[in-house]
Amino acid sequence: MSSKPRVLVTRLLPPDVEARLRRDYDVDLNPTDELYDSETLLSKAQNADALLILPSEQMSADVINRLPERVKMVATFSVGFEHIDRAAAKARGVIFSNTPDVLNDCTADMAMMLLLAAARRAHACDQILRSGGWTGMAPTWMLGSKVSGAHLGIVGMGRIGQAMAKRARGFDMQVHYHNRSRLPADLERGSVFHEDASEMLPLCHFISMHCPLSPETRHWLNAERIALLPDGAIVVNTARGPVIDEAALIHALKSGKLGGAGLDVFEREPQVPPELVELDNVFLMPHMGSATLETRNAMGFRCCDNIDAYFAGREPPDRIT
Ligand code: DGY
Repeated sequence: MSSKPRVLVTRLLPPDVEARLRRDYDVDLNPTDELYDSETLLSKAQNADALLILPSEQMSADVINRLPERVKMVATFSVGFEHIDRAAAKARGVIFSNTPDVLNDCTADMAMMLLLAAARRAHACDQILRSGGWTGMAPTWMLGSKVSGAHLGIVGMGRIGQAMAKRARGFDMQVHYHNRSRLPADLERGSVFHEDASEMLPLCHFISMHCPLSPETRHWLNAERIALLPDGAIVVNTARGPVIDEAALIHALKSGKLGGAGLDVFEREPQVPPELVELDNVFLMPHMGSATLETRNAMGFRCCDNIDAYFAGREPPDRIT
């Protein structure tokens, strides 16, 4: 029998991450990457000392309360933790950790890509070209929106929001932001703080969502707030789908109130409303913000660091419960 702690890993992870886990733990991996429902997860967890999960696994109060008594450490391979009932975890004394920082750059790159793609009508142009509909360059055809000099509103100026602001400044955009509190000047770097979002929205040619999902941010961008944006504004979301009221977004894209959208996240993933798919003024990605090998490795190693700290009797560095 192995004396190493046993770690249940719920999804297929990059090879270097699995190699490190295999080296240091007795691991129960998921080579076929099938999704575990709560009952499967609980039954597999019976043999585990710690878990490494993803947002695909709902850690509700019921699931947390039914974990075996000895499972006191769960690392989530994500910065977001809306799938974890933190109050239940704290009440049961289960430590959860997440993976902050390591995905800031790639997620901000994705947000900038979505912004540019939506502004320059990348999806529609690509489709026309591939379907043989391109008859040559024409001065008035498929014109987009200029990004340089335009105003970007960032909702949620945490680490990813700040990385997006840095990129936007590189494109000569004027950055505005709405956040719970104002940042110190060295982090703000000239961005304009708006305590009241309703004062910011009318200024924003582009708006990019970077807030975590919580009861307060669910449907933050709703029909009333969309109405405050200038006509033709473009919406970008790399945060979580439910921070936008998807039905209101679709309505505004169809009516022409919004000029376009670049979306990496959706309200009911992996389902994407057919109405959204049919719109040619949106650029869609299947939740790929952190999807580079470098970042996924870094996320996996961050999970390992937290699990290692727990079993070494140290404080897990990214503890969230
Ligand atoms: C995160 O880390 O939260 C990403 O969105 C992956 O779920």
